[in-house]
Amino acid sequence: TDAGSGAKAAHPMWSSRLAFILAASGSAVGLGNIWKFPYITGENGGGAFVLVYLVCIALIGIPIMMAEVAIGRRGGRSPINSMRQLAQRDGRSKRWAWIGGMGMLSSYLILSFYSVIGGWALAYVGKSAGGLFVGATTEQIGAQFGALLADPYSLLLWHSVFMALVILIVARGVTSGMEKAINILMPLLFVLLLVMVGYALSTDRFADGLSFLFTPDFSKLSTEGVLTALGHAFFTLSLGMGVMMAYGSYLPKQVSIAKTAVTVSVVDTLVALLAGLAIFPIVFSSGLEPGAGPGLIFNTLPIAFGQIPGGVLFGTLFFVLLVVAAVTSAISLLEPVVEWFEEQKGYDRLRCTLIGGISIWALGILTILSLNEWSGVHPLGFIARFEGKTIFDLFDYATANLMMPLGGFFTALFLGWFMSKQAAENELSFGNPLAFKLFMFVLRFITPAAVLLVFVYNLI
Ligand code: PFF
Ligand code: NA
Repeated sequence: TDAGSGAKAAHPMWSSRLAFILAASGSAVGLGNIWKFPYITGENGGGAFVLVYLVCIALIGIPIMMAEVAIGRRGGRSPINSMRQLAQRDGRSKRWAWIGGMGMLSSYLILSFYSVIGGWALAYVGKSAGGLFVGATTEQIGAQFGALLADPYSLLLWHSVFMALVILIVARGVTSGMEKAINILMPLLFVLLLVMVGYALSTDRFADGLSFLFTPDFSKLSTEGVLTALGHAFFTLSLGMGVMMAYGSYLPKQVSIAKTAVTVSVVDTLVALLAGLAIFPIVFSSGLEPGAGPGLIFNTLPIAFGQIPGGVLFGTLFFVLLVVAAVTSAISLLEPVVEWFEEQKGYDRLRCTLIGGISIWALGILTILSLNEWSGVHPLGFIARFEGKTIFDLFDYATANLMMPLGGFFTALFLGWFMSKQAAENELSFGNPLAFKLFMFVLRFITPAAVLLVFVYNLI
């Protein structure tokens, strides 16, 4: 039943378990943790949202990550072909290909706006290094951010620089150089986050930030908030679009998938919680609103950098690392698109990367305009739920709240019901039959039911 072994001989491999953990963490840890998690937590009232998010990570995210990596390693190919090959109980296995197709479409949409936000981070490297935050008031910092969003040309410039970086790296292949860089940069990001938490501790509102994050008040949580928490669990762990499958196809046989998936998820969750702990005390002590939306971190962290000793250095480093975290995630978003072009068209890698990258770059212009010229354009405004949502908001909503959970739902069904049980057990090698039984139970029933429940509940 070792269907994948032939294909894998030709494939490159991660050099170690650590290399895989770093690459997968590089994909997982990104803007989702430092930019998105704090602002959606703020918009959804704090503690109760965080609790639901943590439950989603544990019950839905981790099992699906294991499933994706296992499918990828067993299949040893691109996500679409791995699923095709492994669908043993399903005669017409071609129908699994559309999941790969939906995943690719999500990568396209996500990267188009992800790059624009990555561009904000790039712009902030410059602002920070230029000392623009030193001694600035809360209002001045807010005005700087407002000015950036209002200017489509600088947004376009930074978006272009960000996409160019991503294209450059992907075109060359993700080499061991990248692996090594992540090796140093990820720990550094951790340290800088701790420095920021240290600053937050020195404000007089640390306790308020702490209780905002960790005291659940369910009256503040809407059903839409639950869907947002679920969607974010997928977004933050890079699930539901085949990215972890592709990375899993380069994973050596002897590495335990269960342990690795848990490690990556814990690292990702820690970074998100640390970001929250760094940001909310500053929000409260500066009289800002936690529900301020996508600009939250750009309006808060610079306040701290403007005041702490060495703030120019720390601030610059911090935004550099934010860019790095964003780039390592963006690469993983472009990779499946490029791989697919290679398979379908047989063009060389450079050409495929350019076609994918440039079309995504062009799509990003819709997000840029949503922030200024077209901020009043609400294409689905006639539906109550989408009232006031710009094109950028809709891309974000459709990918995180619909496409990624659906992709994950079918991934769980695939491993749980359509792949040979023996193959799954071999791949996951829990070592303990009971652990495997428990995992299969969760993946067959709990995970799909939970995703479905949130969906249906939200529709009513
Ligand atoms: N996980 C990344 C983040 O939290 O920023 C975003 C992301 C990367 C989503 C890759 C999806 C993906 F396939
Ligand atoms: Na993440």
